[in-house]
Amino acid sequence: VSLQPFNTFGIAASARRYTELQQLSQLPTLLTELDGPVLWLGGGSNLLLRDDYPGTVVRILLKGIRLLADDGDSVVIEAAAGENWHDFVCHTLQQGWCGLENLSLIPGTVGASPIQNIGAYGVEVKDCITEVVCADLQHGGTAVTLANADCRFAYRDSVFKQHAGRYLVTAVRFRLSRHAHSKTSYGDIAQQLQAMGISGTPTAQEVSRAVIAIRQSKLPDPAQLGNAGSFFKNPIVDSEQAAALLARFPALPHYPAGEGKVKLAAGWLIDQAGLKGYRDGDAGVHAKQALVLVNYGQASGRQIAALAAKVQATVLARYGVALEAEPIML
Ligand code: EPU
Repeated sequence: VSLQPFNTFGIAASARRYTELQQLSQLPTLLTELDGPVLWLGGGSNLLLRDDYPGTVVRILLKGIRLLADDGDSVVIEAAAGENWHDFVCHTLQQGWCGLENLSLIPGTVGASPIQNIGAYGVEVKDCITEVVCADLQHGGTAVTLANADCRFAYRDSVFKQHAGRYLVTAVRFRLSRHAHSKTSYGDIAQQLQAMGISGTPTAQEVSRAVIAIRQSKLPDPAQLGNAGSFFKNPIVDSEQAAALLARFPALPHYPAGEGKVKLAAGWLIDQAGLKGYRDGDAGVHAKQALVLVNYGQASGRQIAALAAKVQATVLARYGVALEAEPIML
């Protein structure tokens, strides 16, 4: 079965077997039938397929959104893992619920959002998650509900990534507010709101529109140009190393990242190393955002991986900083 439609890089790899999970009630039977390696797939937007997959790919298509609680000021809402992330964000904003507006237009599904703790424009999904409902695959698929603190969320990280293969996320619960107090301090948001003629306190929907406009100006649409968003995490280094780098490169964007730690902008490092827009065959470094690798059409997963290795080697040689890939590489 070709996986090309199921990964946003548009890599033409295939799977030995393919099936879909449409109802949670199908899970027990499915688990007894599976043997060999299994890849549980959401939107395929954080994945690089370097080879054909030797096992079974299960696409998670669980659907449904329901309101669990409403105290007048805030709501708790549960969305099934297979819901499209951006459609879900739009739904919450239409209801007048605030909190997810900065995470507009992120590709992928609701179920994938806690795995890498998706984040953008100063907000991470962990800020709104109350609980994650999972099937514990190490205990026969029993349902378990992990509280926010049990998920061990960190920058682009969680217990689901640390123990890959243990938990299948089936639904996610969010607490959202009826009162807008959007974060607009990050980077270009305030500027973009101004450019859109919005002054004063913006509504959550306005912030969402600003985020969408910024993303569309920098990030390639996977429907038009294969990619998996940021290919590398922004590296976190200790303050001594950051100070030494800043002495050599005063313009290097950097952000506090906890006690004695500094987060550096990987996109800037790659850009200033001269690789923005670099292309080797159909594998390329995006011309508008150097942190994104793109597939111009026929690139194989191995060609993208080779380009990633070249970017890592160049950045390491020039700045002494190791870049970690963000997508799951199979
Ligand atoms: N920069 C450059 N050249 C580039 C790219 C970036 O100089 O080619 C500079 C920018 O000018 C800016 C800084 O680097 O000063 C940071 O760039 P940007 O605001 O575009 O964000 P980022 O740090 O590159 C992160 C997330 C994105 C998220 C944005 C906005 C990671 C790995 N990436 O990117 O998330 O949308 O911030 O919050 O943390 C994703 O994870 O797939 C993703 C797109």
